[in-house]
Amino acid sequence: MSEHGNQPATPEQPAENSVRNLDAYRAAYAERTAGMTASEIRALFAVASRPEVVSLAGGMPNLAALPLDSIGGEVARLIAEDGQVALQYGSAHGVPELREQICDVMALEGITAHPDDVVVTAGSQMGLDMITRIFCDPGDVILAEGPSYVGALGSFGAYQAEIVHVAMDDDGLQPDALREAIAEVQQQGKRIKFLYTIPNFHNPGGITLAPERRPQILEICKEAGILVIEDNPYGLLGFDGKPYQALRSMDADNVVYLGSFSKTFASGLRVGWVLAPLAIREKLVLTAESATLCPPTLTQMIVSRYLSTHDWQGQIKIFQEQYRERRDAMMAALDQYMPEGCTWTKPDGGFFVWLTAPEGVDTKAMLPRAVTQRVAYVSGTGFYKNGFGSRQMRLSFCYPTTDRIREGVRRLANVLTEEMELVRTFGTVPQRSVPGPQAPSPDTA
Ligand SMILES: Cc1ncc(COP(=O)(O)O)c(C=O)c1O
Repeated sequence: MSEHGNQPATPEQPAENSVRNLDAYRAAYAERTAGMTASEIRALFAVASRPEVVSLAGGMPNLAALPLDSIGGEVARLIAEDGQVALQYGSAHGVPELREQICDVMALEGITAHPDDVVVTAGSQMGLDMITRIFCDPGDVILAEGPSYVGALGSFGAYQAEIVHVAMDDDGLQPDALREAIAEVQQQGKRIKFLYTIPNFHNPGGITLAPERRPQILEICKEAGILVIEDNPYGLLGFDGKPYQALRSMDADNVVYLGSFSKTFASGLRVGWVLAPLAIREKLVLTAESATLCPPTLTQMIVSRYLSTHDWQGQIKIFQEQYRERRDAMMAALDQYMPEGCTWTKPDGGFFVWLTAPEGVDTKAMLPRAVTQRVAYVSGTGFYKNGFGSRQMRLSFCYPTTDRIREGVRRLANVLTEEMELVRTFGTVPQRSVPGPQAPSPDTA
């Protein structure tokens, strides 16, 4: 019904673009938009969220264990008691009490920091964007693990930075490969602006930088005059007891640390932070002002209340146990079902496993067939900027239940087995049209 009478309501339609004005818009885009492309993960979301598909694709935290009633009560009290502040503009630096509490959170990873050096952001993604905006001119080089986090690659691309990947092994970023990459880039006369690294429970690699490598990586960067950006949203989600020491705890001058409440509390609140030396922090505050004036006061104050009224460390333990159980279910299912020739990482925390299929398998081309078999993953190429990753895929164990993980891995193993059979027979997999649910058409990430 329409609001004016009995006419059936016509939902608002998105504006149709004629071919002519689409071209006109595109011609007017700034050059930097060439580096902005939709990620494969986004393209996948619609298909992977159908109930019949077991999605091992998305990296959504499992929020089912949060005490929603008591958080709801706290939010209501916050607005009733302190609404004039919570619903008002705040400073671009962030709510002072929360910045103090963030220092307590980081202390768990050995970091000593002053609240003034913390800048609160709308998720660590915003921190990544701001850091890149501050440091990168077009053509500047950023070193990043290969593979690396899609959202970071997106930000780097948006500022026309060039990404040079550095290889990892089971112990994380390889110091020798880092030295070689630095020498090679410098030989080409290009400027390296920073090393972007995810030392703990890597997304998508599922790998952790070995403690003995940490000082080496810091030393190499310091010697070469390269800043280190440590992105650590999963650091407190380890499955084996004590958290790893943050790189920032070993070098306060040359490391900028990005943190987040997305995985340890609630991703929808969009609260993260950057811990940076003064000269960088001042620019961060100005950058935040120009982007959003200030991060949302309400969600910062919700996080602050949560930290002071709830057993947040106990809640993190609950998350750790849940994710450990899910990791175990995925490891057991991979062991049981995966065909000979597939290998995968064994994460000791976080959300992700990185699987490598045998030569000849193209995980991007295989994805529509997997979705037809009601299982989804993210193919590896989206995590690189150099076309690598065609035999790889990211599997996440954070969101599906253990039963669904087991079933998803079983389905995936069937798809891979069939694919490998075709590779053996034809040397390559013939392309065919896919019946059943429309497969996603992942655009290049
Ligand atoms: C490595 C990494 N960095 C940053 C982010 C962004 O997190 P936030 O929700 O704090 O923006 C993610 C989210 O998945 C991530 O995996």
